[in-house]
Amino acid sequence: MNALKNTGIRLVALLVLQTLWLETSLSQVPASPRIGEEISKQESIYQSKGEQVPEGYYTDRSLWDYARALSSGFDRALANLGPNDRWLDIGAGGGQAILDYYTPAYDLAHWEGWERRNWKAQAVAISIEDRRTPRWQQDAANLEKNKIQYLFNRRLREYSFDELGQFQVITDVIGGFSYTDNLSLFVEKVLGFLDLYGSFFSILQDVRSEDGTNRPHYAGSPFLTEISNAEGSEVGICAWLKSIACVEVTCESKTGWKPPVEAFHIRKVCNDVTVPALVTIHYEAGTPPERRFQLRNPSPSSQGRTGATH
Ligand SMILES: C[S@@+](CC[C@H](N)C(=O)[O-])C[C@H]1O[C@@H](n2cnc3c(N)ncnc32)[C@H](O)[C@@H]1O
Repeated sequence: MNALKNTGIRLVALLVLQTLWLETSLSQVPASPRIGEEISKQESIYQSKGEQVPEGYYTDRSLWDYARALSSGFDRALANLGPNDRWLDIGAGGGQAILDYYTPAYDLAHWEGWERRNWKAQAVAISIEDRRTPRWQQDAANLEKNKIQYLFNRRLREYSFDELGQFQVITDVIGGFSYTDNLSLFVEKVLGFLDLYGSFFSILQDVRSEDGTNRPHYAGSPFLTEISNAEGSEVGICAWLKSIACVEVTCESKTGWKPPVEAFHIRKVCNDVTVPALVTIHYEAGTPPERRFQLRNPSPSSQGRTGATH
């Protein structure tokens, strides 16, 4: 009887320990104190106000800037949304792009199909800090209740599916995709909020292009975001995105940007999404930060090679 009781206590203790371990591994424990310091510096950039806002931290890009930066399919995907659809803008800054979507100027530029669409999608902006302008408050009050929402004080990873729900279009223009210190968790969350056959549009500045022919924009500096495999060799961002199960990915180099931009269109084509896990090995605060990630698990081909030599 006592042995049974002890086994029971041990089992409970084991379960508690496992839960604690799980929580710690899911929460953001920086890989090193140095990364922790840089994440704190980054936080002060988010919270900066007035003259303290660093040069290069732009929070008021228009919808036209979005259409110019994102993959060519973005403009049409947004224009095709109907009144029962939803658009999430991650890292929305002041939410200018969303406000532009509800203007007559947008309707004039996207007149075809207007009758069929009838009215517009609901749009949700999320930002770590509150950068709403008086115009946001005014437009939100004039539009149908909850047509536009602005959520702040949390990162994307801190929202549950029950809170945010599903979206047919998700955008991120130099928002969380460029700033997160946990890229694989970020993409996993995005794909969780994306409806089946929905599209995620985003960009990264100064990264290796899909064809691998470019060099870092600033001589002597690395690319802004880099991924390596578990053995240390570079894996392109596009190649990593294409290794995610249940998505179709296109990568486009955009000209006319300084530094150059790579635009990504990720379409969810089935529900069993699996994102290859990354570990953060370098993070330096900035606008955007400099980041290096490494694949947590060795690639299957190199495992095969190791197996063959032994
Ligand atoms: C440079 S501003 C870009 C704003 C806007 N997209 C634009 O182009 O004007 C960066 C935005 O990303 C947000 N951000 C950064 N990391 C985020 C995360 N993990 N989740 C949600 N928002 C994030 C910031 O709070 C801020 O709103």
